[in-house]
Amino acid sequence: MTDDDGRPLDPGATNEDEQFDRTLRPRSLDDYVGQEQVRQNLGILLEAARRRGEPVEHVLLSGPPGLGKTTLANIIANELGVAIRTTSGPAIDHAGALASILTNLNDRDILFIDEIHRLNATVEEALYPAMEDFAFDIVLGKGAGATSARLPLARFTCVGATTRQGLLSAPMRDRFGASYRLDFYTHAELEKIVKRSARILALEIDEEAAAELAKRSRGTPRIVNRLLRRVRDYAEVRADGKATLAVTHQALAMLEIDELGLEPLDRRILETMIQKFRGGPVGLDTIATALSEEPETIEDVYEPFLMQNGFLARTPRGRVATELAYRHLGLEPPAGGPEQGRLL
Ligand SMILES: Nc1ncnc2c1ncn2[C@@H]1O[C@H](COP(=O)(O)OP(=O)(O)O)[C@@H](O)[C@H]1O
Ligand SMILES: [Mg+2]
Repeated sequence: MTDDDGRPLDPGATNEDEQFDRTLRPRSLDDYVGQEQVRQNLGILLEAARRRGEPVEHVLLSGPPGLGKTTLANIIANELGVAIRTTSGPAIDHAGALASILTNLNDRDILFIDEIHRLNATVEEALYPAMEDFAFDIVLGKGAGATSARLPLARFTCVGATTRQGLLSAPMRDRFGASYRLDFYTHAELEKIVKRSARILALEIDEEAAAELAKRSRGTPRIVNRLLRRVRDYAEVRADGKATLAVTHQALAMLEIDELGLEPLDRRILETMIQKFRGGPVGLDTIATALSEEPETIEDVYEPFLMQNGFLARTPRGRVATELAYRHLGLEPPAGGPEQGRLL
C-alpha cells in the first residue's frame, strides 16, 4: 500500500502520508473536525477522569482507515497531558514483548494499540489482567514445578484501534469501558479539513477547489489531504502555485478520480462484478481473485465506501452491484434489477 500514485484513494497510510499526517494532525479535541457525537462523549469522559485524577477508562476506536483513529488516540494523551506509547497488534508478537511495554508505562499513560484485532491469542490473554487489574501474570519455571507471580503495573489507559470491530473477540471488546465508531465525513467537514491543511501548508486554495476536493475524497480526511498534496504539486509544476478549480480538475483527471470520488480500482471492482459475474451475487474471494487483489484490501478499504454510497450491496449469497453502479459505469442494468440477490 505504499504505491501512492497507483492508489490515490487508498485510505491506508503511505510513508509520505505519515510525514504529512504528523504535520496536519489536529492536536486537540477542538481542532478535530466532525464526529460530533464522538467528540462530545469523549470530551466528557476525559474531563471526568481529569477531575477525579484517575486514568481514563480503556477506549476502543473503530472505523475504516484514514478517518482519524490514530489522531484521536494522540489527542486523548494530549488533552490529559500524559505520555502515549504507540504499538500495534502484529508488533506485539509474544507475551514478553507486551510485558516490557506494560512495565515501562507510568500512571495514567496511554498505551495505543493499533490494529488491535490482530493481536495473537496468547498476547491477548496476557492483556486481559493488565487492563482489568493492572497486573501482569508471569509464569516462573516449567512443568509441575512452575509457579506464577503477579507483577503490578501502573494504572494506564489502553486505547485500541481497529478497522474491523467484528473481528475483535467478545472478551477483548468487553474490556473497553468506552467504544466509539468513526463514520465517513460530510463534504462540509472535509472542506473544513482541507482548508485547514492548505493553511498549514501555506497553499493558496480557491473556495470551489476546496469544495471539489471534499466531494472526491470518499468521506476520508487522509484522502482529502493526499489529494491536496497532489493538487499542490500540480499547481507548482504546471501553474503559478495556486490551487484553482481548473488546476484541481486537471490534477484529479491525471489521478483518474471521477466526479464521485471513485478511483480506478473501485471501478474495476464494479466492472468485474457486472461483466464477469452478471452483477452478482458473487463472493468476496471470487472478486478478489478475479482482480488479483487481497480480499482484506477490498473488504476494509474499498467496500465500505462503495456500500455506503449505494454502488454495492451485501447479501447472504455474496456481493451485488446495484443499479447505481451500472449507471455510473454507463451500462444498462438488467431487466428486473440487479439487486434481486438481496431478496433471496
Ligand atoms: N477529525 C479530523 N479533523 C481533521 N483532520 C483529520 C481528522 N481526522 C483525521 N484527520 C487527518 O487525516 C489523517 C489520517 O488520520 P488518522 O488518525 O491517521 O486515521 P486512522 O488512524 O483512522 O487511519 C490525519 O493525519 C489528519 O491529518
Ligand atoms: Mg491509524
